[in-house]
Amino acid sequence: MSNQNNKALDHDLSSARLIRDVATKAAIKAGRIIKQYWGESTNSLEVKHKSSWRDMVTVADKKSEEVILKIVRESFPDHQIISEEGGGTEVSPIQSINNSPNTSKYKWAIDPLDGTTNFRHSYPFFCVSIGVLFEDKPLVGVVYNPIQDELFTAIKGQGAYLNGQKMSVSKVATLRDSLLVTGFAYSINELQKSSMELFKELSFATHGVRRDGAAALDLCYVAAGRLDAFWEYGLHIWDIAAGALMVEEAGGVVTDPIDGNLDLFGNKILASNALIAEELISKIQNSQKLHAGAVS
Ligand code: IPD
Ligand code: CA
Ligand code: CA
Repeated sequence: MSNQNNKALDHDLSSARLIRDVATKAAIKAGRIIKQYWGESTNSLEVKHKSSWRDMVTVADKKSEEVILKIVRESFPDHQIISEEGGGTEVSPIQSINNSPNTSKYKWAIDPLDGTTNFRHSYPFFCVSIGVLFEDKPLVGVVYNPIQDELFTAIKGQGAYLNGQKMSVSKVATLRDSLLVTGFAYSINELQKSSMELFKELSFATHGVRRDGAAALDLCYVAAGRLDAFWEYGLHIWDIAAGALMVEEAGGVVTDPIDGNLDLFGNKILASNALIAEELISKIQNSQKLHAGAVS
């Protein structure tokens, strides 16, 4: 490799490290704010409902988002931002202020509080998730669980870390010996119903299937080897941008459970340690065939 290419790589890596550091600062600061609200009453949490009575947002989601956006904008004023409570559109606040298209190649996909239902019930499984894409491909992932003080970070090509220790996916080689996790989106549509069928089938075919309630953390747990695979239908880019990179960088694989290649902007994901991927995909596809009528 020429010196010039080396320089380009160094430059990319140092940019990625800077982005990771800013994302980490934001996630930790936001996580600490969320923790201060944890265990408060419904009234103090100012619970509001979004798409349905089950889809909630609290003052902690909002305060977390506020602090993250401030930190990101200060460091990278021209980067595009997709943040859940900001409306969840691809139109960044900067774009709407300037009234001009945002041409930045960097996109921040932010979930200021992943696991709001858990948080609302004082169930200690939630996190802040920040994923940064470069030309729509994952570059950096940062997920922070403020209750356990666990910080998950990854940079494309540089591995994934939990509190500074390198993570690896599990070595479980058969579905029979695996522990899986899934989630169900707030809206119950035909795809969700078929995922529930899969939940049933896999519950009997494995050591068990968890439903922990925070997709970004579910993905980090697969990366850390605590769980062997995760699937869910009905997710958004802010749920998976950070966690998908974490799994890949820890040696796992991420795909679309039905259509093969993962589209981060699609709404479904299957993440697993590479060893059980094939067996799991074939189970999912058989289940899909069986419930074909249920899925459009
Ligand atoms: C939700 C959580 C949950 C998943 C839902 C997500 P939120 O995110 O990740 O585990 O099952 O599909 O919407 O609303 O708590 O940020
Ligand atoms: Ca979420
Ligand atoms: Ca959220």
